[in-house]
Amino acid sequence: MTEVRHFLDVDDLEPDELADLLAQAAIRRDHPDRVNPTPLTRRTLAMLFEKPSTRTRVSFETGMTRLGGHAIFLGPDVTQLDRGEPLKDTARALSGYVDAIMARVFAHDHLEELAAYASVPVINALSDVAHPCQTLADLLTIDDVVGFDADPQIAWVGDGNNVARSFAVGCAMLGLDLTIATPPGYEVGDDILDRTAAFDGRPCTTTDPRTAVSEADVVYTDVWVSMGQEDDRAAKLSSFEEFQLDTELLAMAADDVAVLHCLPAHRGEEITDDVIESEHAVVWRQAENRMHAQNALLIDLID
Ligand code: CP
Ligand code: NVA
Repeated sequence: MTEVRHFLDVDDLEPDELADLLAQAAIRRDHPDRVNPTPLTRRTLAMLFEKPSTRTRVSFETGMTRLGGHAIFLGPDVTQLDRGEPLKDTARALSGYVDAIMARVFAHDHLEELAAYASVPVINALSDVAHPCQTLADLLTIDDVVGFDADPQIAWVGDGNNVARSFAVGCAMLGLDLTIATPPGYEVGDDILDRTAAFDGRPCTTTDPRTAVSEADVVYTDVWVSMGQEDDRAAKLSSFEEFQLDTELLAMAADDVAVLHCLPAHRGEEITDDVIESEHAVVWRQAENRMHAQNALLIDLID
């Protein structure tokens, strides 16, 4: 029996597999005449959500439809999980029906439990420590708008959160030049720096957003208060005051800098309205790329 492959973080792929997956996503998006449009006919994806979502839910669901398959939305309150059925039982029952399980969870060990008991691939659709599907779209977008061949200088400004952590690993896997600026106490974590070192692509880290943004070709930020951190809101707003991506900070970057945000954005907090509405922002392309990148992933894991 072949081992089931899960996608709990971006380094569940080898670097060459990641590069190939991004290339497949671009081919499927830009040259649909060259690919089988419906490789997942009659295949089904279960989508378990412990938290809200706009992009992740819709991009996976429409992605499965485009690929000829079907997706089932299992939000909070609609399964027996809410009434106490263990995740490990849910994983085994769902494995009898569906071809893959996608899950958005509060605690990453929920994904690990699903993966330990499922006999179909489990995909991380965001946990407290990782958002690898977002990283696929981020990298695809950077290659689209700047090009990996241009050896772009990339800056992360803000919280060293789930999005930043997976992004740091993904950049290291592709040998991209990343500087991460976070306030003290909000770093991505030594575990991430160790994992990036395995790819010879350890990012630079700083507590000064200006150092990271200076001459950058790409600047990426995310919310300061992630889902589930609402009780820390006051402390975080005060710690991140200097980290807002506004026109003054962005002026330090390259003239044609591309601004990324995984969305949803909290305008007036981590990014100003004029920056996200500026010609520099590529956030809508980035959001659409969620579907293209995930479609390549789904084909890779299920087909
Ligand atoms: N970026 C992202 O995962 O968005 P949603 O929370 O809307 O899914
Ligand atoms: N860091 C954010 C990302 C949302 C897509 C959160 O976890 O809420």
